[in-house]
Amino acid sequence: MNIVLLGSGNVATHLALALRAIGENIVQVFSPNLINAKALADRVDSAYINNLAQINTDADLYIISVKDDAIVEVARKLADVNGLVVHTSGTTDIKVLSTEVKHAGVFYPLQTFSRTKSVDFKTIPLCLEANEASQLELLQLLATRLSNKVYQLDGEKRKVLHLAAVFACNFTNHVYALASQILNANGLHFDIIRPLIAETADKVMADLPENVQTGPAIRQDEGTINKHLTMLADLPELQEIYQTLSDSIKLVHK
Ligand SMILES: NC(=O)c1ccc[n+]([C@@H]2O[C@H](COP(=O)([O-])OP(=O)(O)OC[C@H]3O[C@@H](n4cnc5c(N)ncnc54)[C@H](OP(=O)(O)O)[C@@H]3O)[C@@H](O)[C@H]2O)c1
Repeated sequence: MNIVLLGSGNVATHLALALRAIGENIVQVFSPNLINAKALADRVDSAYINNLAQINTDADLYIISVKDDAIVEVARKLADVNGLVVHTSGTTDIKVLSTEVKHAGVFYPLQTFSRTKSVDFKTIPLCLEANEASQLELLQLLATRLSNKVYQLDGEKRKVLHLAAVFACNFTNHVYALASQILNANGLHFDIIRPLIAETADKVMADLPENVQTGPAIRQDEGTINKHLTMLADLPELQEIYQTLSDSIKLVHK
């Protein structure tokens, strides 16, 4: 299959490498910054552009993996292509594409991607949507070669999944960053809590998170909670987060 990648960021990079690894042909990479387009294109033996007027119009599949807010402006430039055009966004409606292009779909990989960290695509849930049965079949054939976890999900379910993913991944990682800030401010290194983070994640691989909650809030240890809030007196934004999360734990376990 001939594929055009639109975007050269975290997801586009991993998708391009995974597609190349299963023998697909990346014919062109587009990115507004030509250096970024070239960097990815060189890794998958592809042509590269930073001007959508030069788009290859003969490809079978166009994967738009740019920032969510730019998907529509990129799609608008693909009105004339006959191939299937998909985006990789959790929350963007398929209509954003189908109002602009002939054949629209979604190819949403439910994983956290950073350009520099390799991933095993076989384990990544791929959530597919398409307006036509033949296009869905094409996506399914491709997706099942990339991953062992392929789902057909409508847009509403996909949006719910993305919302849950923001809590499970993005917010969790931010809370790690806050923990790191507290440790660093007191001369301690993040390394010391890595085993705690690993065990916390490991426990929910075999059980539901509500069954393995620990800490002062579930124990209703008000003395400890108040000491922590006092320690955060000079950091009111962290104090507020501590209070909100403690209240949320108490509410779930009341
Ligand atoms: N990262 C994840 O974990 C993840 C997971 C699942 C799905 N997604 C989805 O995948 C898509 C890409 O996310 P990402 O994390 O890979 O983003 P990213 O690493 O920030 O890369 C964004 C890409 O968008 C391009 N871009 C920025 N502004 C643009 C514009 N106005 N017009 C055209 N292109 C523009 C950038 O080009 P230049 O670099 O050349 O400026 C870059 O190639 C998003 O829809 C996101 O919701 C992300």
